[in-house]
Amino acid sequence: MSKYAELIIDGKTYQLPIIEGSEGEVAVDISKLRAESKVITLDIGYKNTGSTKSEITFLDGEKGILRYRGYPIEQLAEQSTFLEVAYLLIYGALPSKSEFDQFNSDIKKNWLIHEDVKKIIDGFPSNAHPMGILSSLATSLTAFFPESLDPNRSWDKVNLTIHRLIGKIPTLVAMSFNKQRGVPFNYPNNSMDYVPNFLKMMFGIPSEEYELDPVIVNAMDKIFILHADHEQNCSTSTVRFVGSSQASLYASIAAGINALWGPLHGGANQAVIEMLENIENDGGDVSKYIEKAKDKNDPFRLMGFGHRVYKNFDPRAKILKKRADQILDKMGVDSPILDIAKKLEEVALKDDYFVERKLYPNVDFYSGIIMNAIGIPTQMFPVMFTIGRLPGWIAQWKEMRENKEPIGRPRQIYTGANERDYIPLEKR
Ligand code: CMC
Repeated sequence: MSKYAELIIDGKTYQLPIIEGSEGEVAVDISKLRAESKVITLDIGYKNTGSTKSEITFLDGEKGILRYRGYPIEQLAEQSTFLEVAYLLIYGALPSKSEFDQFNSDIKKNWLIHEDVKKIIDGFPSNAHPMGILSSLATSLTAFFPESLDPNRSWDKVNLTIHRLIGKIPTLVAMSFNKQRGVPFNYPNNSMDYVPNFLKMMFGIPSEEYELDPVIVNAMDKIFILHADHEQNCSTSTVRFVGSSQASLYASIAAGINALWGPLHGGANQAVIEMLENIENDGGDVSKYIEKAKDKNDPFRLMGFGHRVYKNFDPRAKILKKRADQILDKMGVDSPILDIAKKLEEVALKDDYFVERKLYPNVDFYSGIIMNAIGIPTQMFPVMFTIGRLPGWIAQWKEMRENKEPIGRPRQIYTGANERDYIPLEKR
């Protein structure tokens, strides 16, 4: 053991190996501690616990750094495309031109979906939340491709599942979105690129020309890139956790979608717009809501502010803030909720409560504003996040399986009743 930490419990010293990452992060390896001492470590919410070693994404919350496979997010957002970033995350290196063309064509070969899926979509009530629909549809893919359930299938076959997921998820999203809107569905168009094709499937009408605004295509592409991975967050850990039981990739992704749905995670961008609308409906008094957010007896939080990891700024928010300003200028959007957003941002950035706790606008604050401006309904925001996060989940699932990680199984500290005798119902 080259470097180790010492832990003394009841006078006995245990040596715990120190693990160092390639960016100098340090961990104390406690994996054998229980076997040696019967003691576990407790860390509710895993705020200080590494669940894996990973080569995919590096982030430094203090310095505001985010890199996919070593490449800074700023460079990828400026110079790359979402599909290229997807390849990078999943396969570990930037693709050559021919590798990219092959990947692109493999995805296009798989972006149609079985017509029977329409029957499943038809079964949902018209007010069903699109994240619930999408996670159900992701699970339903196991029924169309039952061979995916075999945990021992070859990596060629896993690759096919990967192409199917990246190809089909946007089609499923657009199909269910149009079903809910009651308009006919635009099938994927092989002559189009991934993001323009998605926007056309979402907003185009089959018999009509659909004019794509390059500013919107670009903004959507950036939003997807910026959401593509974020190391061991709630949904990604869920995907790895579910996959660790050797559940299929489709099932693991469906679990990730459900984890992402919550308002503290991928649902935050939806929660941002709902919060802005509530403030507007309540008379638009921003300071009242700032006070509510600061009041410890009030459960209200400013949605789109704060981050578990980024404690100085969220580099993704910085990139999107610029885009948000460009889009709002270009589209001449003038809406009361955007005025409220700007006021909130201004006040929160100056107010001691937010400054002291390092609560800056996060990526969801600006992605919510952009998606609202380009006409994506609020309920669909977490769905857009899902499309963006999909390559990250896949890359993390693949890494976990390639590394043959054991099934996830945390311990607990039991705080319930001690042993007691059962009392029959009639005597209680
Ligand atoms: N509004 C008001 N107070 C807040 C907020 C907020 N948005 N976020 C944190 N605080 C306070 C919190 O009450 C606590 O105060 P105190 O120290 O006085 O008790 C302090 O700041 C630290 O908060 P925390 O809950 O320990 O921070 P956390 O790291 O556990 O939570 C968070 C991070 C993102 C869940 C939280 O900031 C939050 O609920 N934000 C709003 C929801 C949101 O925007 N979520 C999207 C996150 S980014 C998407 C992603 O990458 O997944």
